[in-house]
Amino acid sequence: MIIKNVFVKSAMLAGVMLLTACGGHDVDGAALAAEKGCVACHGTKGKAIAPMYPNLNGQWETYLRKQLVAYRDGSRQNAIMALQAQNLSDEDIAVLAAHYGN
Ligand code: HEC
Repeated sequence: MIIKNVFVKSAMLAGVMLLTACGGHDVDGAALAAEKGCVACHGTKGKAIAPMYPNLNGQWETYLRKQLVAYRDGSRQNAIMALQAQNLSDEDIAVLAAHYGN
């Protein structure tokens, strides 16, 4: 029983490590999108929750990154997204763009 338990636990741990190794970037992106609140409008996978919000899935990563930088520096103006982007670091932007885009 104990041996079986240890085996199951280590198998689970290996699975988690494998997932992290393969999709580490995406796992971070999903967590960050939830933490920053992006998911409230753009959904967890970039399919927006309502037509007034743009879908981000399927969009180019480079394009998404540029838009977030532009909202942050004010060169693209939108009251909602300016608020969202103002506290994002360059790294946050890169991770979020990689998560939603491809
Ligand atoms: C309150 C709802 C809301 C939240 C929360 C939100 N957004 Fe947005 N987002 C919008 C709206 C509305 C637009 C369209 C703005 C415009 O017309 O420029 C938009 C536009 C964008 C765009 C540009 C899409 C395009 O096709 O040009 C990106 C990229 C984006 N959001 C990323 C994010 C990220 C990343 C977060 C989290 C840090 C976030 N958004 C949080 C509502 C939201």
